Amino acid sequence: MLESSNYLTPREIVAELDKYIIGQNDAKKNVSIALRNRWRRMNVKGDLGKEIMPNNILMIGSTGVGKTEIARRLAKVARAPFVKVEASKFTEVGYVGRDVESMVRDLVEQSISMIKELKKALVEEKTAQAVEDAILDALIPPLKSAPTTNNAGEYINSDHELNEKTRERFREKLRAGELEDRKIDVTVDKNSGNLGFIGGSPIDEGSMMNIQEMINGMMPNKKSKKRKMSIEDARKILVDQESAKLIDMDEVKDEAVKLAENSGIIFIDEIDKVASGGSKQGADVSREGVQRDLLPIVEGSAVNTKHGVVKTDHILFIAAGAFHLSKPSDLIPELQGRFPIRVELQSLTDKDFKVILRQPKNALTKQYEALLGAEDVQLSFNDDALDEIAVIAHEINMEVENIGARRLHTVMSHLLNDLLFDVPDVIGANAQIVVTKEMVNERLSGLVKNRDLSQYIL
Ligand SMILES: Nc1ncnc2c1ncn2[C@@H]1O[C@H](COP(=O)(O)OP(=O)(O)OP(=O)(O)O)[C@@H](O)[C@H]1O
Ligand SMILES: [Mg+2]
Repeated sequence: MLESSNYLTPREIVAELDKYIIGQNDAKKNVSIALRNRWRRMNVKGDLGKEIMPNNILMIGSTGVGKTEIARRLAKVARAPFVKVEASKFTEVGYVGRDVESMVRDLVEQSISMIKELKKALVEEKTAQAVEDAILDALIPPLKSAPTTNNAGEYINSDHELNEKTRERFREKLRAGELEDRKIDVTVDKNSGNLGFIGGSPIDEGSMMNIQEMINGMMPNKKSKKRKMSIEDARKILVDQESAKLIDMDEVKDEAVKLAENSGIIFIDEIDKVASGGSKQGADVSREGVQRDLLPIVEGSAVNTKHGVVKTDHILFIAAGAFHLSKPSDLIPELQGRFPIRVELQSLTDKDFKVILRQPKNALTKQYEALLGAEDVQLSFNDDALDEIAVIAHEINMEVENIGARRLHTVMSHLLNDLLFDVPDVIGANAQIVVTKEMVNERLSGLVKNRDLSQYIL
């Protein structure tokens, strides 16, 4: 995984982020450096690499300007295990609620499923072979008695010859996809995964880990059950079963722990909500408690997970918050020191909004065009219509509440609601709809003028 070609350069990372996030260049630049530095660290010769700490980042910016989006896309670009947690959801150790270590356990879970997918892909061919054989076994069970062959390896026993020939005929049919609806018996494991009542309980996984293992140990192992289903459905289950046989789970665990340790990204949202704002009483004390709990994890410690011990020293932490009511300096000094890189995200302007509407790979206009495209209706937006939508969204942000680019979602859905309702009953296939500036004004300007109304609707 360490080949340089797999790792993007800072500029390449920014270029990837640019496909989805408009503006916020400072934030993009800093996350790209942090990401590249991890590759650099892993390639440092000698012991110094262990000393090099990640450039944890504190992102400051009001709601809906792209903080979460940047972190999420970064993880995708890096193909790194990623978890997003809300600082305000944690409670101090000793109180009921999620303890901070659970974020590391979640990260490892993420890592495990990534590695599993990888390994699955590696044994794909072998798995397909085994699955095909298993399906054939279910269709035409092989004969129990041992075949007798002559010196040339031909069957003397005609039953076997017949059985083998039938199997081959079915194999061909199977490959041609002619048998997908045929029903076969499949043995399904029943107690795979967690026991329901534990998964649903509010008690944290950490404290329950051992209990779960104990209970599993007491229960009769592997209850399995035969079920009838179509070959098409059975294949999905068999692929899981057969690939599990081919994958060494201990290896998966080892690799997953390494991946989490060296490439994991933990995004801690709403960090401002645990800043104490200076006072030393009541809720503030417990917020400070959460910060104190966070400290060792961000600083580097060993966390027990059911897949092994995970060292957090080189996990990249990105914290984010609006910091409207508190300041970064309200965080306890030790924690501040652990987020050496501060980036401020800019408020988005109506010009940004227009670009956000049109340009990103997942832009809203593209999404709506695709939705109606599925009904064979061609939707398009005039340039001046986009200007108008952007201006209106920005105005509402200024007057009602600034929710950043999220405003575009509410405005667009209000604008297009009737249209989405009329297709295909009133507006049939092959229609072409062009959203014009006039249309935008007609549907939205009334709302913008009426502040009370827009508070509820937009
Ligand atoms: N700069 C941007 N470029 C493109 N899209 C953006 C940008 N900022 C926000 N968005 C869009 O707005 C939505 C909300 O953004 P995001 O989740 O990143 O907000 P946030 O900054 O994390 O806010 P919060 O503080 O409320 O968590 C995203 O789904 C994204 O599509
Ligand atoms: Mg967010």
